[in-house]
Amino acid sequence: MDQKRLGILIFLCLFSSTKCFVDVNRRVDCFPDLGASQAACTQRGCSWDAAPNGSPTGTPYCYYPTNTGYAVSSNDGKENIQLTKQGGPANPYGADISPLTFKTSKVGNVLEISIGTTGRYTPPLNLPKQPPSNQAETLNFQVTSNNTFSFKVTRQSTGRALWDTSIGGLLFADKYIQIATLLPSDRIFGFGEHVHKKMKHDMTRYTTWPMFARDIGPDSGSALSTQNLYGTQPFYLCVEPDGKAHGVLIINSNAQEVTLGPAPHLIYRTIGGQLDLAFFPGPKPEDVIQGFLAYIGRPFLPAYWALGYQLCRWGYKNLADMQAVITRNQAAGIPLDVPYADIDYMSHYEDFTEGDDWSGFPAYAQQLHSQGLHLILIFDPAIEVDYSSFQRGIDQNASFIEWPRFDLVPRQIQDQYPMAKSTKIMLGNVWPERNTAFPDFLDTTGKTDAWWAGEFARFHNITPFDGMWIDMNEPSNFDTNVYSSNRVHGEAPTGDKLACPISGEDGKLDNPPYQTQAVYMHPGENLCSKTLCMNAKTQRGTQDFYNTKNLYGWSEARSTYAALKSATGKRGAVISRSTFISSGRYSGHWLGDNTARWEDLQTSVIGAMEFNMFGIPYVGSDICGFNGPTTEELCLRWHQMGAFHSFSRNHNTQAKLSIINSLYIKFKGDPAQDPAVWPSVAQAAKQALTFRYQYLPYLYSLHYRASLTGSTVVRPLFFEFPIDSEIFSIDRQFLWGSALMIAPALDPGVTTVRAYFPADRWYSLQDETYGNQMPVGYNTVNAATTSLTPVFVRGGSILPRQTPTTTTTSSRQNPFEMLIAVAANAQPSFGELFYDDGVTLFDDITKNPHFSFNFNYSTGDTAAKLTFVTNDKMDLTLPTLDIIEIFGYEYYPDFNSFIWNGKSINVNVQTSTYYPLRKMLYIKTKGLIDLNDVASRATSVLTWSHRVV
Ligand SMILES: *[C@@H]1O[C@H](CO)[C@@H](O)[C@H](O)[C@H]1NC(C)=O
Ligand SMILES: *[C@@H]1O[C@H](CO)[C@@H](O)[C@H](O)[C@H]1NC(C)=O
Ligand SMILES: *[C@@H]1O[C@H](CO)[C@@H](O)[C@H](O)[C@H]1NC(C)=O
Repeated sequence: MDQKRLGILIFLCLFSSTKCFVDVNRRVDCFPDLGASQAACTQRGCSWDAAPNGSPTGTPYCYYPTNTGYAVSSNDGKENIQLTKQGGPANPYGADISPLTFKTSKVGNVLEISIGTTGRYTPPLNLPKQPPSNQAETLNFQVTSNNTFSFKVTRQSTGRALWDTSIGGLLFADKYIQIATLLPSDRIFGFGEHVHKKMKHDMTRYTTWPMFARDIGPDSGSALSTQNLYGTQPFYLCVEPDGKAHGVLIINSNAQEVTLGPAPHLIYRTIGGQLDLAFFPGPKPEDVIQGFLAYIGRPFLPAYWALGYQLCRWGYKNLADMQAVITRNQAAGIPLDVPYADIDYMSHYEDFTEGDDWSGFPAYAQQLHSQGLHLILIFDPAIEVDYSSFQRGIDQNASFIEWPRFDLVPRQIQDQYPMAKSTKIMLGNVWPERNTAFPDFLDTTGKTDAWWAGEFARFHNITPFDGMWIDMNEPSNFDTNVYSSNRVHGEAPTGDKLACPISGEDGKLDNPPYQTQAVYMHPGENLCSKTLCMNAKTQRGTQDFYNTKNLYGWSEARSTYAALKSATGKRGAVISRSTFISSGRYSGHWLGDNTARWEDLQTSVIGAMEFNMFGIPYVGSDICGFNGPTTEELCLRWHQMGAFHSFSRNHNTQAKLSIINSLYIKFKGDPAQDPAVWPSVAQAAKQALTFRYQYLPYLYSLHYRASLTGSTVVRPLFFEFPIDSEIFSIDRQFLWGSALMIAPALDPGVTTVRAYFPADRWYSLQDETYGNQMPVGYNTVNAATTSLTPVFVRGGSILPRQTPTTTTTSSRQNPFEMLIAVAANAQPSFGELFYDDGVTLFDDITKNPHFSFNFNYSTGDTAAKLTFVTNDKMDLTLPTLDIIEIFGYEYYPDFNSFIWNGKSINVNVQTSTYYPLRKMLYIKTKGLIDLNDVASRATSVLTWSHRVV
């Protein structure tokens, strides 16, 4: 297209809504559903222009003219704008709702925008909505057009538009809502849950990412899989061209999706509820996340032991099988804190029961406790409707997801169950052999939560577990409508399978005008596929499941988090497969049923960083891969990387499923993959996990800070260096906090890694180069299978450590250590330690008894000074600090000159050394510093003399 023609078309656009040419880079798709054609497009009142060769991949031919939208019909000049549907095409998927209310509000410097009308569904998240602590930046809102209403959200300090909706396309019908905006940069991160093969979105093309919780494993093997996975996380972070960052949250729980396009722009679509947006101004990426989490709620603090290594498998034949695996890994010296049992332990896959081959489980749980270990068990939400747990649910008037009317209840299923017969409870099929009911965790009467907690308490009295793993909570239902091809609506479904109406009045919610890409990418499916019917009722019969489906995992996590507290009386951890905005308040997450492939190892690094952005820092992938047989090399590399997941768990399926006579039959499938299977993996796991256990006080401090302030635990490099343009493509490396950088080997056959070192000081922590400074930029670093994972500490930081053993429980008894990495230009170094007993429950972390220390190391030509500041203390005896190690120390120390709080103290010169070539000082003295003494003072100071080398 030449400039002249473009000019003419733009001119034409002013006079005609349907012949409005829009450049291939900035289109808003008018035919995201199936069956686009020029005729159908024109009928919608949209423009049709084939994309010429060389256009971005996925360029829509059918697109909305830019005058599609609403006009301002009133504006009080403060916060309230009324919008009326104006010219441009009508909403293709239902009657335009007009007028609409458009409201802006502020929470501190967070800008909120709400677009809706009365009676629209909003998810009952109870967000705390606290303002961010960083109020340095201001966002402005401005209406940029009254006719085709558009607005801008701008950053006051730079004038940059973060949102600019002049691209058009605002639509609002009951079951189709759309908003589109131009974006200030192509550095867009987030939206979930998906597999992202690169962390930075590819904004050179059009890509649609559906968001609808679904039970399906990540497909990392494809070049691009946009498949919606277990959770829904409508949040993104954008780094603007000048390095300032902002975040945008869209609060909506319906089936939804986002299309990212090359303008760069985005189009957000949802099929219910309303649009509630929040803009977080940063300006640093960490400020964005902290502001976001102040608003949605900060993550729970896992028990200290939950940061230990965890070992799991699906397919243990019996308790003895599980014990043998745990024992052989302990015998191999592998640090291990948390054995797991998957659904194998249950009797007939019923929650809160134990199978005959597991009769020694209660005693085994006690035995694990006596060794300082902890036990996490799986629990599924679906409850078989013919045993005591369900009967108690009925007796206690717990709420279950139900049919909207009695006449829809399939009698041939319901009548089989005396306990469910007289109810409208919607019965499905999950692991148990017979039909199941799905607890309604959105019930606001408290009865469902009380029953759920009661079941855990009862079971905990038998087998004292310490944490809960909640699976299948999308919720997943096997076989919904799978026999629909030969089923006539109203007719008996085959067997005991759930059949949802998909046509007629009762099928309206399963067959809305626009079903989202989550459905279109699976031809023949409906929204109910693999889950319950959209016309089901939740929130004690008051809401359509259509609106709340994405909240199921979130609501189960909330209920289960409370149940864990009341059952155990201690802090633990809940791990949930399905998540929503603010799930991190109640649970961690594992990245689902991945596959034992190198690609899955690579995408795990990205997934862990993304979930930190979503406020769920307790996250990790199934180490070695869940599905399929792993290999020795892959399993080794996965342990080396996975030792740096906050949630560090090896899990695989040893079971393969086959369906015989519609029953799931399990038989031996993939081989075992616990580290003890291979000596090389055992060695590598031991090495990587020993490092992890040594640095646990640092990792725990990061989690403590995450719970207090909303900071991330694992973070991408660009969070710390957002003005380095190279850095946005670096997603195979990551940071622990701001101070530790990990550059794992993620490919087969390699012995080195080409790692990127952002402009700062970095010191190696690998044995062979311990304490060496790394040049800035790309370096090839040793990554032998026998070496520690490439890991580097950043100058200017002080990391607390503890001498490691093979459990967190016993490591906690060992002396503390401190690693000081000196900054460039002899600037001071800083660090902090949060510490507590690791298990005491609290409601408010700011009131939880704990220690909080700050460390400050500074040096001059003649002396060094290490300051300890005590911010908080508790009644707990701390081990002594016996080791201080300093990297980048360029002096000869005088070991006889150490002074602690004004009194000279002895340094053991036998065990303390200065290495002038490596510029490393190592001080080791039993009982060197009594941290209990430190805690008793506001400030403590250690000084010593030295002279320039
Ligand atoms: C929109 O209309 C209001 C009220 O008439 C006016 O003050 C404002 O300038 C208009 N805005 C634009 C962008 O035209
Ligand atoms: C169950 O609880 C609901 C909601 O609180 C209440 O309306 C209903 O009467 C209760 N049913 C019984 C049998 O107690
Ligand atoms: C760190 O210590 C140096 C030297 O004692 C001092 O000048 C500086 O203010 C301290 N910084 C902090 C944040 O405590």
